[in-house]
Amino acid sequence: MSSAVLGIESTAHTAGVGIVSPEGKILADRKATFTPPEGSGIHPREAAQHHVAALPGLVRDVLADAQLAPDELALVAYARGPGLGPCLRTGATAARALAHTHGLPLLGVNHCVAHLEIGLLEGATDPVLLYLSGGNTQVIGYAHGRYRVFGETLDIGIGNMLDKFGREVGLEFPGGPKLEALAAGPELEPLPYSVKGMDMAFSGLLTAALRKFADGMELSRLAYAIQETAFAMACEVAERALAHTGKTELVLGGGVACNARLREMAKTMTRERDVACFAPSKALCVDNGVMIAWLGHVMQAGGYEIQSQDDRVDQRFRTDMAEVTWR
Ligand code: ATP
Ligand code: FE2
Repeated sequence: MSSAVLGIESTAHTAGVGIVSPEGKILADRKATFTPPEGSGIHPREAAQHHVAALPGLVRDVLADAQLAPDELALVAYARGPGLGPCLRTGATAARALAHTHGLPLLGVNHCVAHLEIGLLEGATDPVLLYLSGGNTQVIGYAHGRYRVFGETLDIGIGNMLDKFGREVGLEFPGGPKLEALAAGPELEPLPYSVKGMDMAFSGLLTAALRKFADGMELSRLAYAIQETAFAMACEVAERALAHTGKTELVLGGGVACNARLREMAKTMTRERDVACFAPSKALCVDNGVMIAWLGHVMQAGGYEIQSQDDRVDQRFRTDMAEVTWR
């Protein structure tokens, strides 16, 4: 018995399957990402169909990579939310089939908490998580038995804002990395900077940037301004969370945390505050099965007792709904 854990991620675009050892060694990490047809956004059912086709092969491949037979696993974990209903159900079905076929325990975990806990594998102990992805923009930290959302977007996710802007100006999906490559300063065009208390908003920035593009402003200059403005907003909220909680570690997570400029801004802010900054590898920042497997392991090892709701997906499974009994 190896007591490795297999994790399945399928909350949105990415079908990911990973295997970790109890010591936190990544034994396998594979993913397949659904790309919507040019010019359109993600259709949950199309993405789910992609995952249905991809998951059996991914599961087979990670087991081969890790040189494990399914019945050597200690647990099958999957992301039970938050996310798109059809996509979540696909991952849950795959996880259930694998677990039941081989008599393994099954545990549905919170996707956002998984982004944070994977930062603990990087060495953090009690961090603030700056979680910036397509659908999610949150600043999260542990307090009194739960992971609390200290601040979040009031409208669209930061990655969705980048992708929507990219789509409107003719860039291929996903727009985030393309805008990063195009961004050129140093002249900073002013765009709406919207931080309200601990929350942020990005749709005003998107509208203003699109208007400037329509008026003929160069894409490189706009890409630069969008990044500087949006990332400064996120870093401001993260900094305030660090100041209020007295925590001394920041973890970056989510696909937008792959961005080099965001990492640089976060490093500058944390250095000035004497806070340690953990920026996991890009493969662990984007949605992946490894973080789901790792959270499953951490919960199981921490004595978490599997409950009936852990076998059900929940599209609106908020970060602060999960009772943290394993810390
Ligand atoms: P979630 O379910 O957590 O919301 P997601 O489906 O958005 O996840 P992720 O892989 O976490 O998936 O993030 C994808 C987002 O990350 C896209 O919006 C993409 O544009 C953005 N992104 C990826 N790389 C970069 C980059 N280098 N710079 C900016 N944005 C990036
Ligand atoms: Fe994510």
